[in-house]
Amino acid sequence: MTPDDLDWSASGFSTRAIHAGQAADPTTGAVVPPIFQVSTYKQDGVGGLRGGYEYSRSANPTRTALEEALAAAEGGAGAAAFASGLAAEDTLLRAVLRPGDHVVVPDDAYGGTYRLIARVFGPWGIEHTAVDLSDPDAVLAAIQPGRTKVVWVETPTNPLLGIADIAAIAVHAQSVGALLVVDNTFATPYLQQPLALGADVVVHSTTKYIGGHSDVVGGALVVGDGAQLPVGLVGPTGTTSLLDAVRFHHNASGAVAGPFDAWLTLRGLRTLAVRMDRHVANAAAVVDFLSGRPDVAEVLYPGLESHPGHEVAARQMSAFGGMVAFRTGSESTALAVCAATRVFTLAESLGGVESLVEHPYRMTHGSVVGTALEVPDDLVRLSVGIEDADDLLADLARALDLASDLAQGSQS
Ligand SMILES: Cc1ncc(COP(=O)(O)O)c(C=O)c1O
Repeated sequence: MTPDDLDWSASGFSTRAIHAGQAADPTTGAVVPPIFQVSTYKQDGVGGLRGGYEYSRSANPTRTALEEALAAAEGGAGAAAFASGLAAEDTLLRAVLRPGDHVVVPDDAYGGTYRLIARVFGPWGIEHTAVDLSDPDAVLAAIQPGRTKVVWVETPTNPLLGIADIAAIAVHAQSVGALLVVDNTFATPYLQQPLALGADVVVHSTTKYIGGHSDVVGGALVVGDGAQLPVGLVGPTGTTSLLDAVRFHHNASGAVAGPFDAWLTLRGLRTLAVRMDRHVANAAAVVDFLSGRPDVAEVLYPGLESHPGHEVAARQMSAFGGMVAFRTGSESTALAVCAATRVFTLAESLGGVESLVEHPYRMTHGSVVGTALEVPDDLVRLSVGIEDADDLLADLARALDLASDLAQGSQS
């Protein structure tokens, strides 16, 4: 703590995101945490650490600033910042699972999450069941008391925008001493606070909305106050605290965020709220437009009253986010739309200020083709950016017209 450090826990979201962990630099007064591009720290006599800093895998002041801000943003007890979202997931799963354990995963989870659980942890003796998380009863049926140690929730899901009821699933996970993990990447802590709804730990690909500018890859774990390891497990430091175990593994495995990456991510977090407001407004305009197009077979967006998860989303999210998906009726039309947009850039990833379009079946979710998680091949996913809404709608209109012309041409 420096003299400028204050307790921001009672403040609003944006105030926490802008100030928590980010007191003025005590030496210079710099109002933004500096990039401590350093690997090691001078000790005042053996073990005489200044502020606890010893070596930058264990801790680095720029990363500490990001971790404190993320913990404050999610309302958690502590956070750990990683080199990627998957590095965060990998470290968490290693900290809480042992051979023979079982995990419940969404049947439309992000493909990389599923690949990690099925193809990396599977050979180490971890079993999983993929289940439709929009049905809490199906989750209960998939839980194996005594063996299930993690229930993994993603809501909204990538790319089908499915919604899971976090509070209802938390009750089921707690009843068997399993951990409830929520991947909050799509919603962000601005729109959804999973820890307050009963989750034990939140996962982020900070690469997405939190970084917000498509210029950094990163991940984070935010652990809830008092969260414990799955029942029966004692962590490597001899306690049952989940945060202790996460911190131990963060350092022991070492997939940490570098100082510049942490700094960029923290810069993104400061403007998350204003960017999300614009993402949400633009997404609503895009959904409205797509819903009126006869050549769009289905629009997937939790803000639509027709969406099966609409009521749950309205209860647990303050708005419905910036991700939209739609089905075109055929793979060739979906590919043609993806090829024809000009303002929407054809690229993987999401959550940046610029709008992106992609074909999940062949791109982000190619690794799950042929599994229970395979996504429809006529699906187009949009990450709606913060450009002017009129330009986004005109771009989509042009691309859909071109794709329709092509489809008609191939029929004639
Ligand atoms: C919902 C979700 N979770 C986790 C990840 C993995 O994050 P990263 O790419 O930063 O490793 C992604 C990446 O697309 C994602 O969309």
